[in-house]
Amino acid sequence: MKVTVVGAGAVGASCAEYIAIKDFADEIVLVDIKEGFAEGKAMDLMQTASLNGFDSTITGTTGDYTKTANSDVAVITSGIPRKPGMTREELIGINAGIVKTVAENLIAQSPNVIIIVVSNPMDTMTYLAAKATGLPKNRIIGMGGALDSARFKYRLAEALGCPQSDVAGMVIGGHSDTGMVPLIAKATRNSVPVTEFLSAEQQEEIVQATKVGGATLTKLLGTSAWYAPGAAVSELVKAIALDSKKMFPCSALLDGEYGLSDLCIGVPVIIGKNGIEQIVEVALNEDEKAKLTASAEGVKKTNGLLTQ
Ligand code: NAI
Repeated sequence: MKVTVVGAGAVGASCAEYIAIKDFADEIVLVDIKEGFAEGKAMDLMQTASLNGFDSTITGTTGDYTKTANSDVAVITSGIPRKPGMTREELIGINAGIVKTVAENLIAQSPNVIIIVVSNPMDTMTYLAAKATGLPKNRIIGMGGALDSARFKYRLAEALGCPQSDVAGMVIGGHSDTGMVPLIAKATRNSVPVTEFLSAEQQEEIVQATKVGGATLTKLLGTSAWYAPGAAVSELVKAIALDSKKMFPCSALLDGEYGLSDLCIGVPVIIGKNGIEQIVEVALNEDEKAKLTASAEGVKKTNGLLTQ
């Protein structure tokens, strides 16, 4: 499998590193606009191959998309990240132009590629990439829910005092501080609802901490996070590579599912060799439904900024 990662910054390099360490890809190509940057990151990562024990090759290029030809998967991380106090939506002005051009360049070289969009505001950038490329909807995946769910599980395990591997939980909705919908009523600890262990107050604290998970890190780091985003992307790429039919919440172009259409938003999907192989419609309670509907309105409002 050949994987291209556009943007060799914090998140792009972390994606490449995790994909390499998991050792399921033959070839990883890093692309950046900054002269020599992707080449440098690729060389540094390649010098970890004997240390980390992987056989994937990693190369870098400054904007030569012919090097990305015939990629099976391309990850778009190019663009600016937020600074403390900023919302993801504030990045739209700069990132929309970058994501559109990058998506078009990728498709020109790899007509069969599956695109994973990471750049923020992610749901709107996924929608933009879908519209700009005209790709079938199974081949455009927005990465947000896989990360937000990992952050949810971190918070759940912390409150429960148990290992994260004992916890299952999902965050759907838009990838924004206000749009995320952590499904606390459906979260479990070894199949037992977490609501049996946690007070209503604790549950609300976990939901809030999850929703501002990215902002909390941005405040601490001075820029947005990269390890967990890179790890989350690598799991999506791995599910495609291994055709594993694993379920993740991802931003998908909806056409009536959950009563929503003409937007990309986080919903549970099955990922396999064809990208999004199925959108899973889980039964939501009234509260979850109302929150998802409100979240969709927020995403549509941000999408509206694309035409301005
Ligand atoms: P960064 O600034 O470290 O890296 C971005 C890279 O993109 C830079 O190296 C820059 O030179 C490159 N770039 C800019 N324009 C380009 C172009 N036209 N072609 C190729 N490369 C170009 O930023 P970081 O931290 O890696 O974040 C990247 C994006 O990912 C941001 O928009 C951030 O908000 C988003 N993000 C999304 C997450 C998600 O869950 N969806 C999680 C974390 C970050």
